[in-house]
Amino acid sequence: MPVVFIEGGSMSKSKKWVALALAVALVLAVGLTGCASKTDEGTTGETTGGETATVELKTIEAGKLLVGSDTAFPPFESMNGDVAEGFDVDLMKAIGEKLGLEVTFQTEIFDTLIPTLKAGGKFDVIASGMTIKPDRQLEIDFTDPYYDSNQSLVMKKGTAYTGPEQLAGKKIGVQSGTTGEAWAKENVEGATLVPFKNATDAFAALQAGNVDAVVNDLPVSTELLKDDDRGMEIVAQIPTGEQYGFGVSKDNPDLTAAINKALGELKADGTYNEIYQKWFGILPE
Ligand code: ARG
Repeated sequence: MPVVFIEGGSMSKSKKWVALALAVALVLAVGLTGCASKTDEGTTGETTGGETATVELKTIEAGKLLVGSDTAFPPFESMNGDVAEGFDVDLMKAIGEKLGLEVTFQTEIFDTLIPTLKAGGKFDVIASGMTIKPDRQLEIDFTDPYYDSNQSLVMKKGTAYTGPEQLAGKKIGVQSGTTGEAWAKENVEGATLVPFKNATDAFAALQAGNVDAVVNDLPVSTELLKDDDRGMEIVAQIPTGEQYGFGVSKDNPDLTAAINKALGELKADGTYNEIYQKWFGILPE
């Protein structure tokens, strides 16, 4: 950064202060513009040692961000006709706007998301209420966390639940490949786990009496049981302390970095809170 010296000369004391203030303002303005990163179409500013280099984002289709998601997981993602909507959808679209990329959601079965992303060519990002977990982090990268979650146990209305031992000999519906399934495997002895391809199918099976309980992410269970009395209720909240992140291929670290930067900006400028309020009716804690 340039340093500006002011010669004493014949300036009066007050003039000297004005000149000094102007010089400081000039130095600051030059410095700040020089450090600010520019975001262009599908590119992102990256700061390396004070210099700004513009990185072209690598996506499957130029100018687009293809997103894989199991879109039966409200309020994070669900289908309204043939249009995906939800918290993840709005957040991903806001991120896309920051990156100059057009976001398109495509529906995939949850437990195929990671292998398909790894194989490449179908979508660039997973946005699917996916919990950041060490075993998944061996396969793909995750962005910074964007939502805190827990599990829930759902049973027929009026069931007095006392603890996991009550589930011995029972059938528990879970969504295949989820943390809910993992929790049930680790914490319930002597029960039969019945895997479903999505959470809504597991709920339908409980309603029909084909399973005795469902373990599923708490905010989604809350949403699925919100309006209509389906004869089921959340009998226990299970504090697993999970955090959702967006999944990106390990071959595309620039994309992960760009999403993190956009996410940070959306949190700082209030957009994240607006989207949160829209889908959860409250502000994040
Ligand atoms: N958070 C849980 C997990 O990561 C469940 C996510 C299910 N998401 C979905 N869109 N079906 O395993």
